[in-house]
Amino acid sequence: MKQLIALISVVLLSMLNQVSLARKINDHNQEKKTENTRYHFGQSSPDGIGKFYMGREISHVMGHLAAGWLERPEREQEERVSLLVEALNLKAGDKIADIGAGTGYIARQIAVLIGSKGIVYGVDVQPEMVKLLTDNMKQYHITNVKGILGKIDDPNLPINSIDLAIMVDVYHEFSHPYEMIRSICKSLKPGGRLVFVEYRLEDPSVPIKRLHKMSELQVLKEASPHPLEWVETIHTLPRQHIIIFKRVR
Ligand SMILES: C[S@@+](CC[C@H](N)C(=O)[O-])C[C@H]1O[C@@H](n2cnc3c(N)ncnc32)[C@H](O)[C@@H]1O
Repeated sequence: MKQLIALISVVLLSMLNQVSLARKINDHNQEKKTENTRYHFGQSSPDGIGKFYMGREISHVMGHLAAGWLERPEREQEERVSLLVEALNLKAGDKIADIGAGTGYIARQIAVLIGSKGIVYGVDVQPEMVKLLTDNMKQYHITNVKGILGKIDDPNLPINSIDLAIMVDVYHEFSHPYEMIRSICKSLKPGGRLVFVEYRLEDPSVPIKRLHKMSELQVLKEASPHPLEWVETIHTLPRQHIIIFKRVR
């Protein structure tokens, strides 16, 4: 009798495993099918990857070998990053996600504003960038920034926990913009803010490559499938717009 029960259990378990495997394969195929309709593929331009989302070609990722550009001494004068972090109205103790943090140039300034009770998750997909960020934080004796290695479609952040997520000169590089924003929304607290900082495509005098700029309209369009409500666009920076949304569901 015991043997019969054991045999039935083994058969049942194996059937359950097969059902769960079939479900996983089905979900994976479904995701692949949706990705193929969500994105379009075509001739790539010199700065792009030949993958298009809502009419916009996605740009190449800025490689870690160019990291010095993020720390250039003239950056404050060109971009007024100090005005940017001020405009975010951060509070002591806030939990911030700096997505595509690079060397941590922005994360460092935010870390000072939110104080030791707050935390900045500095996410990047390049392990070399995460290392540069971590080394820089040590050098500046900043202890409230945590480097996180993200995936191309998921920043690996804790869910419902972030007060504000910011992407400075990053979003146009996401190879999976829809999946990234979907995942970032899950990591925000309800009412938490998501900030896009992109070079203004509308302004031909901004000396940045075409695919590294985005119009406000395009950002609004690409945010529209997500549980986000536009809050405001701030125009105080010399080259970029600060476009702020909040999570509504
Ligand atoms: C132009 S740099 C900007 C760095 C930083 N935000 C700054 O302004 O100093 C863009 C960064 O985004 C990162 N990146 C690109 N796609 C990403 C993704 N899916 N998730 C996280 N980081 C990403 C790149 O590796 C690169 O370090």
